[in-house]
Amino acid sequence: MEYVTIPSSKFEDVIHHLRHNFPDEPLNASVGLCVHGKPCELLEHHDLMTMQDGLSVMALDKATGEIAGVALNGIARKGDVEKALEDMKTIDNIKYQRIFGLLNNVNKTADLYTKYNVDKIFELRILSVDSRFRGKGLAKELFRRSEMVAKEHGFKLIKVDATSLFTQRVAECLDFIVEKSVKYGDYKDENGQKMYDTKSPHDYYKVMIKLISDKTTDG
Ligand code: ACO
Repeated sequence: MEYVTIPSSKFEDVIHHLRHNFPDEPLNASVGLCVHGKPCELLEHHDLMTMQDGLSVMALDKATGEIAGVALNGIARKGDVEKALEDMKTIDNIKYQRIFGLLNNVNKTADLYTKYNVDKIFELRILSVDSRFRGKGLAKELFRRSEMVAKEHGFKLIKVDATSLFTQRVAECLDFIVEKSVKYGDYKDENGQKMYDTKSPHDYYKVMIKLISDKTTDG
């Protein structure tokens, strides 16, 4: 496997990869915003904006040159979450509102900028591995590489909105800590119905962070 920063010439290929693999993400699978193989305008806009920050990483299958997995990383700044919550009011899509409403509201209460005295955060926003390559440690390696990119660019804090238990396992293994943990089953709509019907074992969404040390870790 070869790991490289995603160049703009590969943005369309990444979108193609995500259309076929990211819909399995537990929150999306629960509300059905994006469907396998189909364009998903609202999420793809978010993906393209993130890739434009130039911090995203992909794993390429050396034999075929195909994209095996991606970590889309972006810069989050103080005030972004509040603005996103305002902007969401103009987006008439209940599925989008359910996913991003949860993420933005939980992040708002976490207020990591104040707690860690930073004005920007390296966000690992989208983690996706081609279903043919799952369970082989690619997500873990994409995480590690993303952490290296964050360090190279001078970030003090890296954060992931870990909506999947598998992402939480990778993050724990790399010494991330849990800042916020919410149980999907606790959210009910006005009729008392569950808002998120995520499949087991994906029962919690966790905001996980790691402070990036200046010290070298390669001995
Ligand atoms: N069953 C049980 N455990 C699993 C499974 C599975 N099907 N798949 C992965 N795991 C566990 C692994 O055992 C490992 O845990 P461990 O270190 O305790 O053994 C951990 O999850 C990570 O394993 P990797 O092999 O590194 O993960 P993989 O390359 O398979 O990718 C990913 C995981 C990215 C979640 C993949 O399943 C995927 O693309 N899913 C669809 C999209 C998604 O859910 N993305 C994450 C959402 S959160 C976010 O995007 C920031």
